[in-house]
Amino acid sequence: MSPFDVTRTLPADATAAALRSDVLLGLGSDPKQLPPKWFYDARGSALFEEITRLPEYYPTRAEREILIARAPDIAAATGARTLVELGSGSSEKTRHLLDALTGVGAYVPVDVSESALELAGRALLAERPALSMHALVADFQSGLTLPDTPGPRLVAFLGGTIGNLLPAERAAFLTAVRRLLSPGDALLLGTDLVKDEDTLVAAYDDAAGVTAEFNKNVLAVLDRELGADFDPGAFDHVAVWNPDREWIEMRLRARSAHTAKIPALDLAVTFAEGEELRTEVSAKFRRRTVEAELAAADLELRHWWTDSEDRFALSLAFPKG
Ligand code: SAH
Ligand code: AVI
Repeated sequence: MSPFDVTRTLPADATAAALRSDVLLGLGSDPKQLPPKWFYDARGSALFEEITRLPEYYPTRAEREILIARAPDIAAATGARTLVELGSGSSEKTRHLLDALTGVGAYVPVDVSESALELAGRALLAERPALSMHALVADFQSGLTLPDTPGPRLVAFLGGTIGNLLPAERAAFLTAVRRLLSPGDALLLGTDLVKDEDTLVAAYDDAAGVTAEFNKNVLAVLDRELGADFDPGAFDHVAVWNPDREWIEMRLRARSAHTAKIPALDLAVTFAEGEELRTEVSAKFRRRTVEAELAAADLELRHWWTDSEDRFALSLAFPKG
């Protein structure tokens, strides 16, 4: 068997069906919204990688700093033999974990973006031919089944991607992750932390306009996949801090009143001038909220590590009991 296999856990048309129902529901509601997972076609994944290198986008650098410093502690605390990574993207920072987790023989990257999985998998395999790689093209929010690889398993969810889920989705997600864990398995969770508004807004509204391109890419996905006629140029990129929810919201604001057609759904979507479509929330956390959300899913926070500027945290949690 090839040491790199890619498994689609859903039938080929499931993604198309999910996109249709998310668009029908989200663009039919008031205010309009779309789930952020639809950003990540090949272009969206490449734009996200560009974001991680922007001077304003600190989370990737902060999390990398923690991983480099703490990977030996993570290895000692878990003794992991399988590394599962949810929303693995380019698997770039994962290398630091793999360097320290010398007992890991199997890597299971999970992502909705097949292009990201392919690129990351081929690159990692060239560097680490002994690693057996089982990539899963799957939605980590819907009924994940993991391959049968040796335990203990470490499930990593990095980048702060948990912040892109709404609170009720986070609770359901953590409960589902808990069900995947056997005694001795662990969850490594990356969370971006609450900080001053200027730093946060700059990270989501960079001077070079890459985040704006990333945000508008969701319209290109709808145009291609559903034959829609959204004009990305008809919208402005908006990033705002919501101090009550402690999350950044990315939105697309219609520059003028217009109607977009979505033939695949037999739908016409009307925008008023200035009307906003929410495309993402990116929640920022505090230690007590992370600890409480883990505990509610029957997970015990045992380690909390931050970078030198307290911008980002990595938590290591284990099943309770
Ligand atoms: N972990 C990487 C990438 C973060 S970007 C890092 O820290 O840099 C978020 C990643 O999660 C993208 O690769 C995206 O395709 C993936 N993703 C987003 N929603 C998803 C979902 N519902 N199921 C599986 N993957 C998802
Ligand atoms: C993947 N996720 C954690 C990113 C974030 O920061 O919320 C996605 C992103 N959106 C805009 N810039 C980056």
